[in-house]
Amino acid sequence: MTRPYTICLVAGARPNFMKVAPIAHALQARKNAAGLTGIDLRFSIVHTGQHYDVNMSDVFFRELGIPTPDRHLEVGSGSHAEQTARIMIAFEKVLLEDRPDLVVVVGDVNSTVACSLTAKKLGVRVAHVEAGLRSFDMGMPEEINRKLTDAISDLLFVTEESGMRNLRTEGVPVERIFLVGNVMIDTLLRNVTRIEDPEFAPSDPVRAICGIGGRYGVLTLHRPSNVDHREALAPIWGAIAEVARQVPILFPVHPRTRGKIAAFGLDGTGITMIEPVGYLDMLYAVKGAALVITDSGGLQEETTALGVPCVTIRENTERPVTVDIGTNYLTGTRPEAILSASREILSGEGKKGVVPPLWDGHAAERILDVLMRFAK
Ligand code: UD1
Repeated sequence: MTRPYTICLVAGARPNFMKVAPIAHALQARKNAAGLTGIDLRFSIVHTGQHYDVNMSDVFFRELGIPTPDRHLEVGSGSHAEQTARIMIAFEKVLLEDRPDLVVVVGDVNSTVACSLTAKKLGVRVAHVEAGLRSFDMGMPEEINRKLTDAISDLLFVTEESGMRNLRTEGVPVERIFLVGNVMIDTLLRNVTRIEDPEFAPSDPVRAICGIGGRYGVLTLHRPSNVDHREALAPIWGAIAEVARQVPILFPVHPRTRGKIAAFGLDGTGITMIEPVGYLDMLYAVKGAALVITDSGGLQEETTALGVPCVTIRENTERPVTVDIGTNYLTGTRPEAILSASREILSGEGKKGVVPPLWDGHAAERILDVLMRFAK
């Protein structure tokens, strides 16, 4: 006799999708093996709708082969309280109808904390993938999301050693914590061969900068602390415009940043602003870049995995392994520091870096090994 065990996998915003993909694929692959051990493994995907534009959401499902969500909550944008509350209300209805045994959340976005809190209050177990990361900066909405989610999760899957230390320090019982590697790097390793295929064609705006044989940089910026106020963004922008005198810079612009750049009247010769790009375009652009300049969390890890130097325009990082052994420079927001790291990289003296332990493409399988143990 097999017994049903139902896992609800939550995806909400762009950085979630590349983390959900390998977990969904591993769940699909485990169905038969689970049946042999008496478990009728079932799973559903819930998309909260935190990100909804085609180029912020649909393109990732299509390119990464993520199954179509079983439920779409369509919450859209709003203030933090509005968005978090709307997700909780809609997700509670889903949980009451579907009654899964386990909810799996990934990353640190508002959907992550909203869904874990809703599940926990209904007595549904929660697993957090990418647990334990800490910037120790409670001014970041993501840090609040990470700490709250970890505080109530039953199973905590960790990407790097610092995460294990942070969770132990916070008193999380060790039997709940698992160092499994990085599911986002699973996706990267699975897809890097696709962009090397001669059949692969980047989109025209990406090819115009990255596909013509010369050196170039890639820029992303979207942290509220960097882009929401002119006094913060203008000096950063000035430093990047200076770097762009040495190499052309491709800038796929997040919707919140585009509005601010226009409102502040910023202009940068050598910085080519394009719409947000899909996963494969971005991987192609980053893999061939001479340097990446960013304030993203995920790109710090992806550049380290690819051996591409990265300048991170933040005062802190929750991913210290990328600085300690990877290719990441944590410069803060001072223009001189951004310029000095960029010059070092462009002179060929940049960090070479090594790939952190367990970032080997098998993190999702390790997670499934643990989940199946707990399903019994
Ligand atoms: C969210 C995450 C952040 C992550 C980032 C990646 C939180 C607290 N923040 O920030 O951790 O690094 O996603 O992108 O969860 N918008 C669109 N189309 C969309 C989505 C958003 O135009 O599909 C615009 C809306 O004007 C919205 C704004 O972008 O108000 C911000 O979106 P939101 O999801 O609130 O936060 P992000 O800045 O994207």
